[in-house]
Amino acid sequence: MIGLGSDQGGFELKQEIIKHLKERNLEYKDFGSYDSASVDYPEYAKKVCGAINRGECEKGILVCGTGIGISIAANKIKGIRAALCTDCFMAEATRLHNDANVLALGGRVVGPGLALKIVDTFLDTPFSNEERHIRRIKAIEE
Ligand code: RB5
Repeated sequence: MIGLGSDQGGFELKQEIIKHLKERNLEYKDFGSYDSASVDYPEYAKKVCGAINRGECEKGILVCGTGIGISIAANKIKGIRAALCTDCFMAEATRLHNDANVLALGGRVVGPGLALKIVDTFLDTPFSNEERHIRRIKAIEE
C-alpha cells in the first residue's frame, strides 16, 4: 500500500500519480488534500507518515509546490526517511543507499512525465541491503 499526500501545490501532480498507480494496478491510499484549496502541507506529511509507522502503508509519496516543505515535515517524524527527488538517479540512489520510505516531489518543479518516471524508479528499486548502508541508516536513528 502506497500512501499519498499533497497540499494545493502538489494536488494536480498527485492526481496524475493516482492515475498512474491505477494503471499499474498498485494499491494506494489518498490522504488528501482532495482539491486545490489552500492547506498546510505538514498535516498531510503527518497523515502519510503516521500510516507508514503504523504499518498501514509500506511507502509514501508526498507532493507540495517545491517538495521541500513537505519533505522537511516528513523527516521530523521518527522512522521516516523522505527523499526529495528531481530525477531518476536520485530516486534510484535513495532507495539503494538510504532505504527511503517516502518520496517527495515538487509539483511546480517537475513535469508529470518526469515525475511518473521518478515514481516508478522509487517504487521499483529495492534497498541494496549492504552493510555500510544499514550502518549509516541506523546511525541516523540514534
Ligand atoms: C505553498 O504555497 C508552498 O509553500 C508549498 O506547496 C511548498 O512548496 C512548501 O515547501
